[in-house]
Amino acid sequence: MKISSFMPLARFGVRTVLFHKKDPILGTVIVTDKCNLKCKHCSVNNITAVIHPYAQIKGEMQQLFDMGIRILFFCGGETFLWADSGKSIRDLVVEAKEMGFLIVNVVTNGTHPIDLPEADLILLSLDGDRERHNEVRGDTYDTIMANIAKATSDNICFYMAVNQINKNAIEHVCRTARDTKNVRAVSFNFHTPYPDTRELALTKEDKAVCCKIIEKMMKEGCPVFNLKSAFPYIINNTFPTPCHQCVVIENGKISTCGRCIEVPGLCDECGYFFVAEYTLLFSGNLKIIFEMLRTYLKYV
Ligand SMILES: C[S@@+](CC[C@H](N)C(=O)[O-])C[C@H]1O[C@@H](n2cnc3c(N)ncnc32)[C@H](O)[C@@H]1O
Ligand code: SF4
Ligand code: SF4
Repeated sequence: MKISSFMPLARFGVRTVLFHKKDPILGTVIVTDKCNLKCKHCSVNNITAVIHPYAQIKGEMQQLFDMGIRILFFCGGETFLWADSGKSIRDLVVEAKEMGFLIVNVVTNGTHPIDLPEADLILLSLDGDRERHNEVRGDTYDTIMANIAKATSDNICFYMAVNQINKNAIEHVCRTARDTKNVRAVSFNFHTPYPDTRELALTKEDKAVCCKIIEKMMKEGCPVFNLKSAFPYIINNTFPTPCHQCVVIENGKISTCGRCIEVPGLCDECGYFFVAEYTLLFSGNLKIIFEMLRTYLKYV
């Protein structure tokens, strides 16, 4: 991360911790919920299948910027399906940077050719080895790996949602992150059990085993973009929720933390590591603060 990006974020962090502020810093724009896949664990694809117009997305980016948000994610649906008014997801990233966002990341299923050098990170969902990934995501593993090999930049970070199908594939994904050209790291989440995917939820014991494995892989030198100090809170779901420093905007509607905030009781079972990491950071947890500094300076 450039020092010019780091300083404003550090100032925001200090203000938030010292004065217990709840202003947001991280925003996600949902560009479409249309998707070419139908993953077993996902509850947010193809509900409307609308590609939101460019003017609307640009307005939402500006709205988030005006709220003080400086870390922007584009998410979906499948972000690489987004196109409107002659613009692509790459144009949105470039325009977000021009608007003044300090970090701009895109989440994708990796099934389309990857030409996105302007993004700080491309969070590319990989849900296991070939067999388990394909069980979750359909027959896409080989296409994704070929797209990664041909990517025009090395800003890819695997994004793995660990669930009952793929919980034994963590080591494989860590080593693949370490050994694959163009891949910088891997970032994990645990399955968040929406009502229609409860059967994929991990138990507390499963989560403890997974975190042990992730720690072991970190010690082996695998590049993991998560904070070890947050693991006990993630295993026991004892981190504060929701994250007031995060917002998501979809079709003009802003939600605090995630679209999932409206699902009754879901926050108590939240599997998103970023929620634990950000809420602990902004509550002033010193171990998290130091580990976050080290990790972000290394991978972003
Ligand atoms: C909804 S997808 C949208 C972006 C893109 N289509 C993709 O698959 O990466 C964003 C991320 O959320 C993850 N995800 C979906 N449902 C989840 C759930 N119930 N719990 C945790 N992660 C989930 C996906 O695996 C993916 O990494
Ligand atoms: S690719 Fe992403 S949006 Fe599409 S079904 Fe899978 S997780 Fe959901
Ligand atoms: S804390 Fe709640 S709103 Fe936030 S991501 Fe988790 S489940 Fe969704």
